[in-house]
Amino acid sequence: MTHTNSPQNSSNPAIIVHGGSWSIPDSLREGHLVGVINAVKIGYQILQQQGSALDAVENAVVCMEDDPIFDAGIGSFLNEEGHVELDALIMDGSRLKSGAIGAVQNCKNPINLARKLLEKKDTMMLVGSGANKFAKAMNLSCDPKSLIIPRELDRWKQGREDIFTPGGTVGAIALDTKGKLAMASSTGGSQYKMVGRLGDTPLIGCGGYASAVAAATTTGHGESFMKITASKMAVDLIEDGFSPQAAAKEVIEKIRSINGYGGIIIIDNFGRIGYSFNTSRMAYALISQDGSLESGIDPK
Ligand code: GLY
Repeated sequence: MTHTNSPQNSSNPAIIVHGGSWSIPDSLREGHLVGVINAVKIGYQILQQQGSALDAVENAVVCMEDDPIFDAGIGSFLNEEGHVELDALIMDGSRLKSGAIGAVQNCKNPINLARKLLEKKDTMMLVGSGANKFAKAMNLSCDPKSLIIPRELDRWKQGREDIFTPGGTVGAIALDTKGKLAMASSTGGSQYKMVGRLGDTPLIGCGGYASAVAAATTTGHGESFMKITASKMAVDLIEDGFSPQAAAKEVIEKIRSINGYGGIIIIDNFGRIGYSFNTSRMAYALISQDGSLESGIDPK
């Protein structure tokens, strides 16, 4: 069975965002839900005004990067040396073009930097000192210390090198009124990560992928999602005839089979949405093509 491409010239938009898949404690439940609902509304408003899927996912992710409850932008986990190093990916399904940023240290909103890379350069991925330099050139740089909040400094000072907890990576995927798809994702990675460590988030096909047929993005233990190029796997499944929900379940089943953990969100060019996770919680919010909003954090 093959997924035939939608011939529609225009369609009702749809969007789903997530704010991380992990054992989110009860004390952070409300904050996560508010954060993802704020983000999905920002993205949907852009889509309703005939804005592009790219603009919608970028702005939804900025909203979550600016919310310190998530492990993205300000408030991210610190690496082994006590610095914030951020990763982000944005991909335009209609052009198969990405902007990927890895281990940037001086940028509050790496998703904006990723978008600049996508739009302005043929290069699709920049890391480390190159990403820092590009942030300065794009007037998107900040003092690296301004990204560190007391909560994370305290956590880092505890010096628990045995804890490698993936936290609230954030992500968004959308279908716009022109039938185009895009994905965006941003993360501070894992606690006490090695300097220069990249997880799945900035890697095209692992932490995110978008084609003309579907878009997907992941959250959780990055190395597991890298092993199976999870987001490309999801899009391939849909091109082979899976629904987004069936594809999401299939990817997370594969993650489970390799002892990985996390979640995935998927949307296709018919506006169908799927999500799945094998952690105890994943914060998500979506607005379907009929305009209804759904949000949640616990498994159904
Ligand atoms: N999934 C985010 C990371 O592992 O960095």
